[in-house]
Amino acid sequence: MATSSHPIIVLLFVLAAAVVSPAAATDHIVGVNRGWNPGINYTLWANNQTFYVGDLISFRYQKSQYNVFEVNRTGYDNCTTEGAIGNWSSGKDFIPLNKAKRYYFICGNGQCFNGMKVSVLVHPLPPPPSASVAAGNSSSASADRRVLRNGSLGYRVLVALVGSVWIGIGSGWVF
Ligand SMILES: *[C@@H]1O[C@H](CO)[C@@H](O)[C@H](O)[C@H]1NC(C)=O
Ligand SMILES: *[C@@H]1O[C@H](CO)[C@@H](O)[C@H](O)[C@H]1NC(C)=O
Ligand SMILES: *[C@@H]1O[C@H](CO)[C@@H](O)[C@H](O)[C@H]1NC(C)=O
Ligand SMILES: *[C@@H]1O[C@H](CO)[C@@H](O)[C@H](O)[C@H]1NC(C)=O
Ligand SMILES: *[C@@H]1O[C@H](CO)[C@@H](O)[C@H](O)[C@H]1NC(C)=O
Ligand SMILES: *[C@@H]1O[C@H](CO)[C@@H](O)[C@H](O)[C@H]1NC(C)=O
Repeated sequence: MATSSHPIIVLLFVLAAAVVSPAAATDHIVGVNRGWNPGINYTLWANNQTFYVGDLISFRYQKSQYNVFEVNRTGYDNCTTEGAIGNWSSGKDFIPLNKAKRYYFICGNGQCFNGMKVSVLVHPLPPPPSASVAAGNSSSASADRRVLRNGSLGYRVLVALVGSVWIGIGSGWVF
């Protein structure tokens, strides 16, 4: 008993880790439940979410049938993989979006012509929260967004931990 960690200590450690860690990157699953398959309009999918630097885009598909190529605008428009920037074929590919730019992905086996192409615009991260203290003008809108992104996870963990400590006290834990 003396050597085992006290539950409260463990909780505080977890809480500290949650507060200092950066915001979790969003994993954008292409096509959501429908995955990476022919006959889907991925423009509609891409228009329905916002991509930030550091996020991931992930492709889920039958690796015996499809694949993923990162191409430029020409490759996207014309469904060609010449001069491709990258290619993936694991069937479950996680691709980091590390630059603020427009990315183009296509399937390289001809199914690009049946809609297996997606283009996403990756935005820079909004300025850090400190900007919102000084700003008070239009730049504060994006800063607030960053606060929301960074703050929500830590806040939810905090709420959960406060709740569990409360339950712990109620059920007889001693500090
Ligand atoms: C996909 O949807 C977009 C947005 O509505 C539209 O502009 C585009 O023509 C559609 N593409 C196809 C292949 O239907
Ligand atoms: C857009 O996203 C919302 C919420 O995630 C979802 O309910 C809706 O079905 C999506 N629409 C399309 C066209 O993907
Ligand atoms: C697509 O290919 C055609 C020739 O097949 C070419 O004229 C056109 O410029 C290409 N598209 C782009 C965006 O380069
Ligand atoms: C895309 O890459 C191809 C092959 O490297 C090249 O010929 C073409 O000019 C590039 N297109 C753009 C828009 O950069
Ligand atoms: C796929 O990428 C690898 C490097 O990761 C490259 O060697 C290979 O030639 C690429 N394949 C095609 C078909 O472009
Ligand atoms: C908005 O804030 C930025 C930086 O905080 C400042 O450079 C700019 O002059 C401000 N604009 C207005 C209209 O106050």
